[in-house]
Amino acid sequence: MCGIIGYYGNKVVKDVLFDGLKKLEYRGYDSAGVAIYDKDQYRVIRARGKLNHLKERLDGENFSGKIGIGHTRWATHGIPSETNAHPHQVGKISLVHNGIIENYQEIKETLVRGGAKISSETDSELIAHLISQEVEQGHDLKKAVDQIIPKLEGAYSIVATSLDEPDTMIAFKNGPPMVLGLGKEEIFVASDAQAIIHHTNKVIFLEDLEVVKIQGTNYEIFSANGFPIEKNIHTLNMSPEAIEKQGYKHFMKKEIYEQPRVVANAMRDHIDLETLKVALEVLNSEDQIIAAEDLKEDLAKVQRIFIVACGTSYYAGLYGEYLIENMARIPVEVEFASEFRYRHPVIPENSLVLVISQSGETADTLASLRMAKEQGAKILSICNVDKSSIDREAYYRLFMRADVEIGVASTKALTTTMTVLNLFAIYLGTSREQINSEQEKHLVRSLQALPSEMEKVLAYDSFFEDAAKSLKDFRGFLYLGRGANYPVAMEGALKLKELAYMHAEGYAAGEMKHGPIALIDDRMVVVVVAPSDSVYEKTLSNLEEVRARGGHIIAIGTEKNEKLKNLSKHYLAIPKSTWNLNPILSVIPLQLMAYHLADNLGLDVDQPRNLAKSVTVE
Ligand code: M6R
Repeated sequence: MCGIIGYYGNKVVKDVLFDGLKKLEYRGYDSAGVAIYDKDQYRVIRARGKLNHLKERLDGENFSGKIGIGHTRWATHGIPSETNAHPHQVGKISLVHNGIIENYQEIKETLVRGGAKISSETDSELIAHLISQEVEQGHDLKKAVDQIIPKLEGAYSIVATSLDEPDTMIAFKNGPPMVLGLGKEEIFVASDAQAIIHHTNKVIFLEDLEVVKIQGTNYEIFSANGFPIEKNIHTLNMSPEAIEKQGYKHFMKKEIYEQPRVVANAMRDHIDLETLKVALEVLNSEDQIIAAEDLKEDLAKVQRIFIVACGTSYYAGLYGEYLIENMARIPVEVEFASEFRYRHPVIPENSLVLVISQSGETADTLASLRMAKEQGAKILSICNVDKSSIDREAYYRLFMRADVEIGVASTKALTTTMTVLNLFAIYLGTSREQINSEQEKHLVRSLQALPSEMEKVLAYDSFFEDAAKSLKDFRGFLYLGRGANYPVAMEGALKLKELAYMHAEGYAAGEMKHGPIALIDDRMVVVVVAPSDSVYEKTLSNLEEVRARGGHIIAIGTEKNEKLKNLSKHYLAIPKSTWNLNPILSVIPLQLMAYHLADNLGLDVDQPRNLAKSVTVE
């Protein structure tokens, strides 16, 4: 789960690499480095810590060459240190790697037995040794790479250069993403198109075991069995501005504020404005909209839905379960992808597997998709990144349309996914005659009103800016919710943990009395998500139980609610909405709360410790 980039062209190589790494920093940020050709050698410059440390070392350096590679790291094998940072250089080879080599121990033993001197603790350096050995035997770089690929087990995307061929880079992958960028008289390779979109929007996505040889501004792509192949060039519709902070202190803040707009975007193509019906626009793998009658016929067969995802996307899935079971009466199972892929699940015929992933690259989710596909299940994906691996491998494709999400803590990808899940559930419900057309209109109208209601909730920004000063001194945080608000409680706790490094737990409010109630005293903040819905009265009783034990209550409820206000220390009112949309409105204050607590503590909001945006390793 690191970011890699390679460049050949006439621009200042160190600038292109560094700018690209900045855009890839979300993938890992514990060390970084570049190797750039300069007067008959590749000069490697690396630094521990965030990219500004590398910047300090690069300032004042000049390189004569037109070619270079760069890397920003999220440590797997070996601590974050300069020695473990990439690029790794062995003999004539310089190399950057994203992923994990599972048989590294075996490779290492063989190399050491053969007299190799290993200087880092990484699995990546070993790959450089393997290639170097092949080059020393007289192979060119491409041949050397071909020779070593069969020796590698695990996940990797790699760019390698050789001193013998100073205009050449070889890029190859198995698992983590890799994209080739085609500019005018220049060529790029990177983990993510975000890194190169400022230079070109013409890209080619590499598939597993394909190898690209970049020589000057020419490239050749080879299939897994070594034959030259032609691949489609995609023109990406991604604006460079979408990946700037635009005056906000942090990307996360900007992304929280973007939610009303992107939620409107997410529903735009799926609603018939005249009839107020959901007209779901699902794409097939060829980017074509699946014909309405075909989609209806296909989905009518579905008897069970599995939702598989990780982290925040998993909580979106749990929320989806409430929607789909309620609106369409189809049984739904929601599972962490990391569990699903290994537990040998029974996937009956006529099951639909819905995978949710902002990045579309999460390794566990991708592996679950492949496993379910092998068992014959049809896959529907909801991704944010168009043409990401998950998006490319799904049979039916829906999109979050959240624009680029940079903050490591997911915000707008969640609320856009929740919006899309509503549309999907309404669609299933109406096609199965569980929802009549009046109910459908009512649901659609409430969805249409959602963006402006979300705007109102953003006003809690200043409340939490202030409240964070005292909230940060509490011992722990318990988030409670029932029904469709239970996933919101868990998401609130996840946001606080990952951003403010404070202990927080999300719990089903009714379960509190079975244990967690013992935690409650006046040093415990209890956030209760209690909007007006069918379980409101029940949640209220749970809140009374917390109050009786002295918990510091923050309650979220619908509009003016004197009862909730009197029971809590802080009462946050959300606008009146339908039961299914309350969770989208309630989650926004929780995002703001985590944001301000972390900011108040002086923590790095956009790049919390130990995390990475896209988890492309197991
Ligand atoms: O890209 P994905 O949606 O597949 O990512 C899943 C999780 O890694 C992600 O949601 C993670 O939990 C975030 N840090 C949450 O804020």
